[in-house]
Amino acid sequence: MTSRFLDEDHELAHLEFTPGQPGGSQAVNLPILQGTLGPSVLDIRQLYNETGCFTYDPGYTSTASCESKITFIDGEKGILLHRGYPIEELAEKSTFLEVAYLLMEGELPTHKEFQPFDQSITLHSMLHEQLRNFYSGFRRDAHPMAIMVGVVGALSAFYHDSLDIRDPQQRMIASHRLIAKMPTIAAMAYKYSIGQPFMYPQNHLGYAENFLYMMFSTPTAPYVVNPIVANALDKILILHADHEQNASTSTVRLAGSSGANPFACMAAGIACLWGPAHGGANEAVLNMLKEIGHKDRIPEFINRAKDKDDSFRLMGFGHRVYKHYDPRASVLRKACYEVLGELGHQRDPLLDLAKELEKIALEDPYFIEKKLYPNVDFYSGIIFQAMGIPSSMFTVIFAVARTVGWIAQWMEMIEDPSQKIGRPRQLYTGHNLRHYSPFSERKP
Ligand code: SDX
Repeated sequence: MTSRFLDEDHELAHLEFTPGQPGGSQAVNLPILQGTLGPSVLDIRQLYNETGCFTYDPGYTSTASCESKITFIDGEKGILLHRGYPIEELAEKSTFLEVAYLLMEGELPTHKEFQPFDQSITLHSMLHEQLRNFYSGFRRDAHPMAIMVGVVGALSAFYHDSLDIRDPQQRMIASHRLIAKMPTIAAMAYKYSIGQPFMYPQNHLGYAENFLYMMFSTPTAPYVVNPIVANALDKILILHADHEQNASTSTVRLAGSSGANPFACMAAGIACLWGPAHGGANEAVLNMLKEIGHKDRIPEFINRAKDKDDSFRLMGFGHRVYKHYDPRASVLRKACYEVLGELGHQRDPLLDLAKELEKIALEDPYFIEKKLYPNVDFYSGIIFQAMGIPSSMFTVIFAVARTVGWIAQWMEMIEDPSQKIGRPRQLYTGHNLRHYSPFSERKP
């Protein structure tokens, strides 16, 4: 880029280059768009029309895929805002359903606004009775994320009155159904895996409390959810609700851009979240800590994480955006001590091991130079385990929380007048034109 200058509307970037094709050097003026916070963007929508060139950005490290008002992240300063509110304040003072309302509607609700929303979520928490049959088709040892992908996608086979994405009323009903039913579907996946009967949601319980009730109660005895655990879970759900254009959210947006129904889009998001580089990391962190086993083995694993020839990575460390502490990890770290203390797990060996691993890694020149800090997944699994939740359910709970962010982002995309189907291009490095040859003429 040779210069930036202003025209009558906005600042322009003047780009001159020689693309190595006939026609010699090219010049193009790209509008520079500035948001409320964060980096400016070069508007390249006309780049191909004007130059015949694409941009190239595998992994989208330097690409803004959309305009959004929902979440802002400053990776250098470790800042995370939802509709302008710091995550630390929301985690401390709000509730998950209130944050869900904020993400979807853009403002914190008044009591008059929140009450019908809360009531709607409560009344949509039951699943169509026939969906129970889906579970018996899975093996008992199926990973619950496999069940989540299947059952959430199947919701579109049952709720035909909320599939028309062009109808705001149907979008709202589908959104409330998804927020309300995710905990029920998740708890049923857990019950199925341990051979216990499904438990129905209870309308008098709060969102997090109801999930824990459906996870741990049985028909044989009354069950009261531990308020410490319920409060901690509600806070964890807030911390996982939304996170700008991460891989699973971008998957939901891309699926939604084709006009797919909301249930199919959320199933696509769940599938993407499952990956160990993304939402599957919380389960992987716990497996890693158990594999390390003792603090004497930490150096061995730190060295493996630094070894280019070893595919091992320190799970729960590093982030595409945060090159400082993930603010959610800081809140979770504090919550870890509080919850384990309140639950009588002060001397949790896994927590001690995690603290020692974090200390050693943060003092290691490799991690310092590459700005690798603990992320949201590093501590969450330790709290979940202390709550009695099996590690196979960790990413499922991440999906329950992130459904709210996926829905808010999906709604924003549908309502964006400039929205069109997402269709990236490529840098083609394959064969040039060639013609079919029969077997007899092919050489080995
Ligand atoms: C989530 O995007 C989001 O917002 C995601 C999320 C959300 O809320 O939606 O925040 C949730 O997914 C958190 C991340 C959970 N994943 C993990 O904890 C898995 C371990 N972390 C890594 O796989 C990695 O850090 C990623 C995938 C999270 C980020 O990878 P990037 O952005 O592609 O970074 P990179 O792979 O280019 O890493 C830069 C360098 C590389 O070394 P070089 O090639 O430059 O020599 O840092 C190294 C990497 O090898 N590196 C690590 C490392 N993470 C990065 N080395 C050792 N251990 C690690 N964990």
